[in-house]
This record gives sequence, C-alpha cells and structure tokens, in this order.
Amino acid sequence: MALYSEKVMDHFRNPRNVGVLEDANGIGEVGNAKCGDIMKIYLKVVDGIIADVKFETFGCGSAIASSSMATELIKGKPLSEALTLTNQAVTEALDGLPAHKIHCSVLAEEAIKRAVLDYYKRQGIEYDKELFKDVEEGED
Ligand code: FES
Repeated sequence: MALYSEKVMDHFRNPRNVGVLEDANGIGEVGNAKCGDIMKIYLKVVDGIIADVKFETFGCGSAIASSSMATELIKGKPLSEALTLTNQAVTEALDGLPAHKIHCSVLAEEAIKRAVLDYYKRQGIEYDKELFKDVEEGED
C-alpha cells in the first residue's frame, strides 16, 4: 500500500485555498515545536458563516494536505460547525495519514480554533473558555 493516499497527494500537489486573506476578521497561527512546522488560517466571517478561508503552511506535505482539506471542510459553514472539526475528521477526509503524520492534521484543527477565537475576541463576542482551553494556552 502506498504511504500516502491519492487524496493526500492531490491536496499536497494542488492545495485549495492557499494564500492570505487581506480582509480576514479571524486569524489563527499554530506551530509544532518538534518539527518546526507552522500553519496560519485566515477566516472571513459574515453573519456567523465562514464566507472565505485561506491558509499559509510552512511545513510538510501532510500539513499542507491537512490545511487544504480542512479549509474545504469549513468553507461556507457556520462557525459552530468549524469548531467541531476534529483532526480525525480531516484525516478521514484525506483517506488516512501515516501514524507518524497524525500530528500534522492536529495543526489544522488547532489553527482553525485559534482563528475562531481571534474572531470572537475582535468582535467582543462571549465564548466558552472550555472550548478553547487547548489552544489558548501559550498564545502569543
Ligand atoms: Fe510537522 Fe507534518 S511533520 S506538521
């Protein structure tokens, strides 16, 4: 069996939603201290819906494929749905990742959470701290 699925290869070679969103109103950045990879997610939220999303990932192929798939999964969706996106869902949508690459999909989940948190903070919207406890620690 190939190490990487067709979907991983496709999203790695032709990543969707790459770039910077100039009018983003929620931005989330995370890094993995061990591998040094960095992922940044830009959200444009309109009426509680993710009208647009882009990403910049300085990282491995799995991180790029994970960001690409994650942005596809949350585009056009309500924020509440984006917050429930797990790295398992991203991995499944990619038809799997090798075990030692699972942490790459975790970056996507965390970057999205941070971007939503950033949106809530900018807008002064009350949020459930419990939902963000994993990503708020160590925030810059
Ligand atoms: Fe670090 Fe993939 S090896 S994100």
